[in-house]
Amino acid sequence: MGLGFFGSILLLALFLRQSVSQQPNTDGFYVFDFFQKMGLISSQNNNLSASVCSWQWVFCDALEENVIGLVASGFGLSGVIPETTIGKLSKLESLDLSSNRITGLSSDFWGLGSSLKTLNLSNNHISGSLPSNIGNFGELQSLDLSFNYISGELPQSVSSLLSLQVVKLDQNEFTGSIPLGFLDCQSLVSIDLSFNLLNGSIPNGFATAFPKLRTLNLAGNKIHGGSLDFVGLQSLTFLNISGNLFNGSVMGVFQEQLQVIDLSRNQFEGQISQVHSNSSFDWSRLIFLDMSANQLSGTIFPDLNEAQNLQFLNLAHNRFFEQEFPQIGNLSALEYLNLSQTGLTGSIPPSISQLAGLRVLDLSENHLTGPISSLGINNLQILDVSLNNLTGEISSSLLQKLPQMQKFNFSYNNFTFCASQFSPETLKYAFIGSLNSCPVTANPDLFGRQTPSHNGLKLALATSLALVCLLAGLLCLAFGCRSKSRMWVVKQQSNKEEQSISGPFSFQTDSTIWVADVKVATSVPVVMFEKPLLNFAFADLLSATSNFDRGTLLAVGRFGPVYRGFLPGGIHVAIKVLVHGSTMTDEEAAREFECLGRIKHSNLVPLTGYCLAGDQRIAIYDYMENGNLQNLLHDLPLGVQTTEDWSTDTWEEDNNNNAIQNVGCERLQTTWGFRHQIALGTARALAFLHHGCSPPIIHKDVKASSVYLDSNWEPRLSDFGLAEIFGNGLEDEMARGSQGYVPPEFSQPEAGFPTPKSDVYGFGVVLFELITGKKPVGDNYPDGQDSNLVSWVRGLIRKNQGSSAIDPKIVGTWPQTEIEDALRIAYLCTADLPSKRPSMQQIVGLLKDIQPVEHQ
Ligand SMILES: *[C@@H]1O[C@H](CO)[C@@H](O)[C@H](O)[C@H]1NC(C)=O
Ligand SMILES: *[C@@H]1O[C@H](CO)[C@@H](O)[C@H](O)[C@H]1NC(C)=O
Ligand SMILES: *[C@@H]1O[C@H](CO)[C@@H](O)[C@H](O)[C@H]1NC(C)=O
Ligand SMILES: *[C@@H]1O[C@H](CO)[C@@H](O)[C@H](O)[C@H]1NC(C)=O
Ligand SMILES: *[C@@H]1O[C@H](CO)[C@@H](O)[C@H](O)[C@H]1NC(C)=O
Ligand SMILES: *[C@@H]1O[C@H](CO)[C@@H](O)[C@H](O)[C@H]1NC(C)=O
Ligand SMILES: *[C@@H]1O[C@H](CO)[C@@H](O)[C@H](O)[C@H]1NC(C)=O
Ligand SMILES: *[C@@H]1O[C@H](CO)[C@@H](O)[C@H](O)[C@H]1NC(C)=O
Ligand SMILES: *[C@@H]1O[C@H](CO)[C@@H](O)[C@H](O)[C@H]1NC(C)=O
Ligand SMILES: *[C@@H]1O[C@H](CO)[C@@H](O)[C@H](O)[C@H]1NC(C)=O
Ligand SMILES: *[C@@H]1O[C@H](CO)[C@@H](O)[C@H](O)[C@H]1NC(C)=O
Repeated sequence: MGLGFFGSILLLALFLRQSVSQQPNTDGFYVFDFFQKMGLISSQNNNLSASVCSWQWVFCDALEENVIGLVASGFGLSGVIPETTIGKLSKLESLDLSSNRITGLSSDFWGLGSSLKTLNLSNNHISGSLPSNIGNFGELQSLDLSFNYISGELPQSVSSLLSLQVVKLDQNEFTGSIPLGFLDCQSLVSIDLSFNLLNGSIPNGFATAFPKLRTLNLAGNKIHGGSLDFVGLQSLTFLNISGNLFNGSVMGVFQEQLQVIDLSRNQFEGQISQVHSNSSFDWSRLIFLDMSANQLSGTIFPDLNEAQNLQFLNLAHNRFFEQEFPQIGNLSALEYLNLSQTGLTGSIPPSISQLAGLRVLDLSENHLTGPISSLGINNLQILDVSLNNLTGEISSSLLQKLPQMQKFNFSYNNFTFCASQFSPETLKYAFIGSLNSCPVTANPDLFGRQTPSHNGLKLALATSLALVCLLAGLLCLAFGCRSKSRMWVVKQQSNKEEQSISGPFSFQTDSTIWVADVKVATSVPVVMFEKPLLNFAFADLLSATSNFDRGTLLAVGRFGPVYRGFLPGGIHVAIKVLVHGSTMTDEEAAREFECLGRIKHSNLVPLTGYCLAGDQRIAIYDYMENGNLQNLLHDLPLGVQTTEDWSTDTWEEDNNNNAIQNVGCERLQTTWGFRHQIALGTARALAFLHHGCSPPIIHKDVKASSVYLDSNWEPRLSDFGLAEIFGNGLEDEMARGSQGYVPPEFSQPEAGFPTPKSDVYGFGVVLFELITGKKPVGDNYPDGQDSNLVSWVRGLIRKNQGSSAIDPKIVGTWPQTEIEDALRIAYLCTADLPSKRPSMQQIVGLLKDIQPVEHQ
């Protein structure tokens, strides 16, 4: 019967050609007449020869006297079934006229008699009510009238259908309540009354009437009832009462053998937490559970994690108490999880990434906090986490972990994202209320040092410069500018001599080889934010560093090697090659660099430019003349490079620098006032990142070697923002921080994620270093070999002996009590509980309060 509609017609026509007229009042005649009157056979064609019993869709008894089966599904039959046709087939057992355009039945249809076992009229246009005559079909086993327009009440006479096993009356317009007579149909295995207009209650005795019932679908009516109506349906495996008016407790529903439970969109209420304790429900059988859109309360089932075969779970839109995310790591079969509006608090557990088959995840409208970086679910297609308090950055690299993703919604959280990574359409619908993370300065003046505004002056300078240039240009045009063009030629030649202009270029450090896959070094631009007219190219980086010669290598840091060089015009820079792990496209990386370039503060090392050389992202920073705090403070001999330090290179041109350095070193080592100045500057930088940028920037790696000293001995914090942008893969390691600076919350099993307060901890350690002159780990602490700086000093402060930790070199330089005040600030910063630590803004205030007069 797998023929299409037109195929059937064609074959039928072929058969009819060879037939002769049927004798009147035989089954053959009735069937022929039926097809003729339903418009399938034209009247001229009634020269049919063969018996209808030879037709493929007609089944006759052994003697070929009676038709016992007729299957004309999808034949295009239309209109009312005529009198004296099918209704006369007295021995008919099976009739399938489904998927036609039949609009009504003949009155003699109900005379079909007691032989009919299966009747399928589904998917037609039958209207009117179902007469009591249906009760005539005492042998009927399967009745399918679904997808019609049948209205009125179900007749009580269904009580005669004692053999009925399958009844499908769904998608009609039946009204009234389920008739009591129904309860006599004790052979029923499957009932589908869904999508009608039935109301009233489930009749008493329903649950005991159908010992064999396996499938019950009452969805989409207005039926009243409670879960107890189903207690006793011992064979039931499928229950769908979605979209009705059931109320009370759901307890009764959870019976051992059920596999599919859909109670959604009812009025169930009460706590569901005890479902396990007083029912013998077997979670391991459960495949489908939908209890969404009720008024359930309490907490989600404690035994949920035992449902190993669960594929679909929807508990959304109830009235659950505020609760932690339920244990679901064992639900390995889960494909759909909807916990929208279930009162979830806390963070999304990492175990969610064990749900490898998950395709739909809806956690919207909860109170979830923390990042969603644990969502590494390959098959996820739909993700909705809108309306929570989730944090962190939604980057394209996060979405790369979700390759199947078709629809997502991150709206109304505390997420940040970089707008350039997403289409305008996506931004409009999926990031409502999120913050563009291409960072912009909110109010630099609040956090910066008070510097007089030179804007007017600058403008005047720029205008006059432009005029001079214009004049020079005109002069050049007029006189040919010989000398200049000669210089240009000379420069070109020297470039060619110094290095080959065509790549790819490969470079080596002790630990890394990196390759810049560029074809022509002169055509890959170097973008300098403040000097857009300079037109530098990768070739200029090559010559500035003698082809990234090891002699110019300052350090090999976490992201890759850092070189020192002079760009044309004497611009002194540190060139940082971010070798490790960025998966961003060129556009994305460029956008991120531009964002970072806009972050400016007098205590931050400024990013001055960048270059995208093949896959390499190269960051260009102002060179910091006086190295970093770690080296200065702990007085490492030159040449020992434990971390990035931009001061220990060997090709120093002017020896003046070393002299200054020594003076600075001396001051740093011996005066508290100078150390205080470094602490305050560093605090200002962090306060600016935390409170002055929108969204806030978390440094993630605050340590002495991140604090540089510029040519004026002003402290400047470096490397902000890089972890976020280029960390990818490195990010977890970055998040852990550097040894000795890691806050306690990171070493717990439920490892924390970086917050402003973890930066505060790192700052506290730096402050301890400034006060004690000792390294955070591996130094000589009087309280024992295994100790570290933080636990040693904190121990002393608790015993009121903090002053004994002060670096002997500065003890005499200032009233001891003021240094002890600083110790107390560091003590607060290194509190075990992040919430006990002050904010960087508060720390700036505290440090200013104890500012030595000399430096005001
Ligand atoms: C029977 O019908 C076919 C076509 O429908 C026609 O070709 C044929 O001549 C008819 N035979 C008689 C005896 O009418
Ligand atoms: C009735 O026919 C339709 C269409 O052919 C079919 O999908 C449905 O399963 C049939 N009903 C029963 C109860 O077999
Ligand atoms: C059920 O609906 C019918 C109309 O379809 C209405 O007359 C009857 O009062 C309703 N019964 C109940 C119990 O709501
Ligand atoms: C229950 O019925 C509703 C309404 O028709 C439907 O959306 C839902 O998919 C059904 N549930 C199951 C498990 O079939
Ligand atoms: C459930 O609804 C029925 C009728 O709609 C009502 O009489 C009964 O009190 C309700 N039960 C509960 C527990 O709300
Ligand atoms: C389940 O137990 C609770 C108390 O533990 C009781 O209030 C409730 O009626 C019980 N439910 C069923 C269906 O037995
Ligand atoms: C989760 O599965 C493991 C292994 O199958 C089992 O040992 C553990 O008891 C299960 N946990 C729960 C809560 O069912
Ligand atoms: C989650 O369930 C709610 C309530 O039924 C529904 O509105 C929402 O569309 C569901 N989410 C998804 C992604 O299916
Ligand atoms: C998010 O957190 C803020 C402050 O803690 C709170 O006022 C707000 O209600 C929270 N929003 C949600 C959806 O939990
Ligand atoms: C989320 O952001 C809002 C407004 O920016 C803030 O009030 C709230 O405290 C933040 N919540 C969390 C949990 O970070
Ligand atoms: C995302 O969620 C918000 C808040 O519920 C809603 O306004 C917005 O329409 C949703 N966007 C999409 C694409 O579903």
